[in-house]
Formats: sequence, structure tokens, C-alpha cells
Amino acid sequence: MYRTILYKNDMPKFQELGKKFLDYYKNEMLYKMKYFYDNKDKQKKQIIKTITKPTLLIGDSEKTLKKINEQEINFIFTSPPYYNAREYTNYKSYNDYLDKMYRILLECNRILEDGRFIVINVSPVISKRSGREFESIRYPIHFDFHNILTKSGFYFVDEIIWIKPEATVKNRVGGYQQTKKPLSYKPNCITESLLVYRKNVPFLLDKNILKYKNFKIDKNAKFNSTNCWYINPKNDKNHPAVFPEELCEEVLKYYSFENDVVLDPFAGSGTFGKVAKKKNRIPVLGEKNEEYVKLLKDKYDNL
Ligand SMILES: C[S@@+](CC[C@H](N)C(=O)[O-])C[C@H]1O[C@@H](n2cnc3c(N)ncnc32)[C@H](O)[C@@H]1O
Repeated sequence: MYRTILYKNDMPKFQELGKKFLDYYKNEMLYKMKYFYDNKDKQKKQIIKTITKPTLLIGDSEKTLKKINEQEINFIFTSPPYYNAREYTNYKSYNDYLDKMYRILLECNRILEDGRFIVINVSPVISKRSGREFESIRYPIHFDFHNILTKSGFYFVDEIIWIKPEATVKNRVGGYQQTKKPLSYKPNCITESLLVYRKNVPFLLDKNILKYKNFKIDKNAKFNSTNCWYINPKNDKNHPAVFPEELCEEVLKYYSFENDVVLDPFAGSGTFGKVAKKKNRIPVLGEKNEEYVKLLKDKYDNL
């Protein structure tokens, strides 16, 4: 009955009933059904494709992404600045930082093909104490990204946990280890989140997959069967926060096809671009720091 009421949205009687019905239940699943039905006959917008080779966008991604046409990008993977954790960012406040990330996510939503995925790598950070008498502040960035991702037109699909060996992370548990005093416990953080979201659309994923008619399935291909991925981190002398190549290979395997145009709007040393090229995707990299841009240019002279 619910379906009929919402489906027959071109008949005034059902329109009125549908409205009463939604006002009463205010249920998210019903809103989603209504969204599907309301948009089922909408004409598809023509996608104008101009990106045919690896591309470097130099400058603030909030501005440079505006050069890209609607829906030209097939997949986005990125690791944004973790608030002011590194020297390349200096936001006035945490809210200021989240607002900026939101504006960039809005652009990401506009240029991402309908129904495709964005994967964001983030984890909590801690600010320095301003004096011995003050507490430090710990920011749950991954929780707050959920809000700005949904506000900018994506919906939650998965959280993948990237797990690193304990020996590779900062030791926080030392104090507790010595005193064993309750409340002083601070475990070593060996995980980071990969937030997997899909662009809101009134159709199922099958429609996206069906576009790749010539995709050859490798039935013996190895794959990660859980949302816990055990991958060693990587250090780089030129950049303080680089992706391990294996992480990029994994996300490209599960969320993109060959020849897709794939974007990293916070490219840093450009690891994602390098792996994307190797995997026959067309990378688009955004970076604003001049030092890293120079490195990117030297590294990928055909970008
Ligand atoms: C966490 S790092 C990314 C590192 C990258 N995943 C790698 O493998 O090297 C974030 C990068 O975003 C850049 N960045 C910060 N804000 C930006 C903005 N508004 N537009 C473009 N790049 C930005 C920083 O300069 C930094 O290199």
C-alpha cells in the first residue's frame, strides 16, 4: 500500500495521501522511496567528457575543481588534512576546517558521476596542550566527516578499518603500562578509517555496473573479504603523510574500473595518481602546496 501511494505521485488524491502519510511516519526509508519515485522519469543529463589524460590541478581544490564538468569523475579517493595535525595547514578553528572540507566535498559531489563512490581516509587527531594546566583536545574527525558528507549529497555505505602494525605507531600507552592506574588508559591507535560513501541518486548500483559491459571478470582474483585491512604504513622523506601503494591498489580494485577518471583532491606526494596510472585509470590530482606541486611535476612529467 505504501508503495502504491508514493508511486502514483501524479494523481492529486494520492499526492495528498502521500503527504499525510510521510508527515505521520517521517521515516527515512519512505523518504527514500518517494525520492526514487519522484525522480524515476527525469531526463538524464548529458556528461561532457574532457579529461583524457592525467591532469594536475594546482591550487586550492575548492577553486580548481570548478574547472571540471559535472559528473566527469568516476571515483574519488583522498586523505584530507587532519585539521592542523601537519605543518601544511593552519585553520583558525575546527569549525573553520570542517566548513572548508564541506565546500570541497560539495564540488566533489557535483563532478562525481551519479551513483559512484567517494572514499575518505581520516582518523582522530589531538591538538597540543596550551599549558600544563590545560587538557589537550582530541578531535573525532571521522565522525564529523559523516555529517559533512551527508550534507553534501552522499550516503553512508561502509567503514573500512585500515590496521597498522603496533610497532609503527606512536606509543600512547606507556603511562598506563607503568602505573596501571584506571582512567589514565590511552591505547595505541593502530587504525585509520576509510569512509565509503555513494553519491545520492534515485537508482540502484546495478545501473552503474551495467555501463561496463566489456569488463572481464577474473574469478581467481584475490580480495579482502572483511572491512579490516592489514596494510603497513609508508614513510616518505618528502611528505609527512603518504598513502601506502597497497591501500590505493585495494580501493581502486573495489570502487573503479579500468579507464575510469579518478580524483584525489588532496594529492600530496601523488601516490594515488601513480598507482592509478599503473592500474590503467586516468588520475586527476589537486594540490595547493607549492613544494609538493613541484615534486608532483618532477615525478610525473606528463601530468
Ligand atoms: C594528508 S595529505 C595527502 C597525502 C597523500 N595521500 C600522499 O599519498 O602523499 C593532504 C594534502 O592536501 C594538501 N591540501 C590541503 N588543503 C588543500 C586544499 N584546499 N586544496 C588542495 N590541496 C590541499 C596538503 O598540502 C597535503 O599535501
